[in-house]
Amino acid sequence: DKSGYKHFMAKEIFEQPTVLADALRAYLSPEGIHLGADAGLAGVQRITMVACGTAFYACLTAKYWFERLARVPVEVDIASEFRYREPPIPEGTLAIFVSQSGETADTLAALRYCKGRAASILSVVNVAESSIARESDVALPIHAGAEIGVASTKAFTCQLNVLYLLALETARLRGEIDAEGISERLDALRSLPGLFNATLERDDRIADAALALSEARDVLFLGRGLMYPLALEGALKLKEISYIHAEAYASGELKHGPIALIDKTVPVVVMAPRDGLFDKTVSNMQEVIARGGQVLLITDAEGAREADGETWRTIVLPDVPEDLAPMLYALPAQLLAYHAAVAKGTDVDQPRNLAKSVTVE
Ligand code: M6R
Repeated sequence: DKSGYKHFMAKEIFEQPTVLADALRAYLSPEGIHLGADAGLAGVQRITMVACGTAFYACLTAKYWFERLARVPVEVDIASEFRYREPPIPEGTLAIFVSQSGETADTLAALRYCKGRAASILSVVNVAESSIARESDVALPIHAGAEIGVASTKAFTCQLNVLYLLALETARLRGEIDAEGISERLDALRSLPGLFNATLERDDRIADAALALSEARDVLFLGRGLMYPLALEGALKLKEISYIHAEAYASGELKHGPIALIDKTVPVVVMAPRDGLFDKTVSNMQEVIARGGQVLLITDAEGAREADGETWRTIVLPDVPEDLAPMLYALPAQLLAYHAAVAKGTDVDQPRNLAKSVTVE
């Protein structure tokens, strides 16, 4: 049931405020975070995270959180690379597998490789009865509800939610963040569904930008820090459903090669809230503009003021605490891809050559 939307993907994007609020209720009480199981976080010395596609980008985002908040070193790998590389798993490793379907063959094989090697196996899944969930020591559901569109949307934000809670809980157990710091961050998280709603109200403006993007043959996405994995996710989303070639780079990598691609036919989507890295991103943006590149800047009010007049288009999102920006900025990334695909007339929910669940290796 598409609840009146033209596509499941649209429905799944627009239900994110409600879905996230429900997911938060499942894990939060007035006293704090309740994972409902001992996820082996207390003695963790390092974390290895393994996944594919969008779930892999959720892991890349979580690396920043685990390292910055909990001070635990994290490795992230694509399941198909991890399993064949046969990496050594140091003692005290928590292995985390993230999968919407819980049936992705490479992720499952990577999990099996870690059995008996990692201290503990934790999975973050949408389908609670899936193979990956069953074979883990602890499986944490993301509570996204059924996701029908092949392009993952609400599962991504709900994966990020659970991974953020895990990072906070790890930080608390290790004494890296005190009770007040945790409760401030949980309050911020509780306000996120409201910010999701405010962001979705910008849909017309985003659709307008997407219409312009839909004429491009190639699009670049740039981001720094927490926005870098999101740039990768934005590019994946765009290519998977609109078939527009898109690439993402960490903004700082631009001048090490990709800047050679810039001309007026290659729009550059820059994801940059006004955070500690903003000035650096603005200077990367100026390098693009100086070469005739058209910048679509996704930022907040202050960022828009500072970049004033220089961009091709600007989409202004509500202010959001830095930790949570990847979750909020995921929404315009999804909407850009969605509207570009609709403009091109592609099969949004069932893109060519793709399956919702990749059970072959
Ligand atoms: O079910 P999984 O989360 O394990 O699936 C992983 C990828 O196949 C999946 O995220 C894929 O990249 C999506 N189509 C992205 O939108």
